Amino acid sequence: MYNIFYQSHAGSWAILIIFFLLSYFFHNQKWLSIITRIFYLMMIVTGVGMLFLLKFPLVFIVKGLLAILLIGTMDMILMKKKKAQPHSIFWIVFVIILILVILLGFHVIHF
Ligand code: HEM
Repeated sequence: MYNIFYQSHAGSWAILIIFFLLSYFFHNQKWLSIITRIFYLMMIVTGVGMLFLLKFPLVFIVKGLLAILLIGTMDMILMKKKKAQPHSIFWIVFVIILILVILLGFHVIHF
């Protein structure tokens, strides 16, 4: 079971980032933002699934919380773009949290 969650999670995160970028640059395409949202859900479900099976190690609790913040930031960026409001600060936050989440996911940062 862990393997199913892990493979889906490991196989989806980069696709999520690609769909997020596509939704940003082609914001008139509604289906792109729907697919991006499906991937948000997929990452959360598989991530929480692994978290349960691993019995909640602190490092992945932190990673999960940062990842949820990351998803919030991505959605905020898409919303601000749609409303044509300034949002460069959210891009900075996005890049920083994304790097942290990836480093935690690949055990580069561990505690
Ligand atoms: C946008 C959201 C997310 C991104 C970009 C992301 C990214 C990653 C990456 C890159 C890995 C390493 C994959 C690999 O080894 O090939 C990973 C693993 C993992 N992620 Fe996420 N993740 C996200 C959401 C979440 C959430 C919401 C949770 C939990 C609530 C979570 C929990 C985990 C866990 C437990 C692992 C397994 C680490 C292991 O066993 O080695 N992730 N994630």
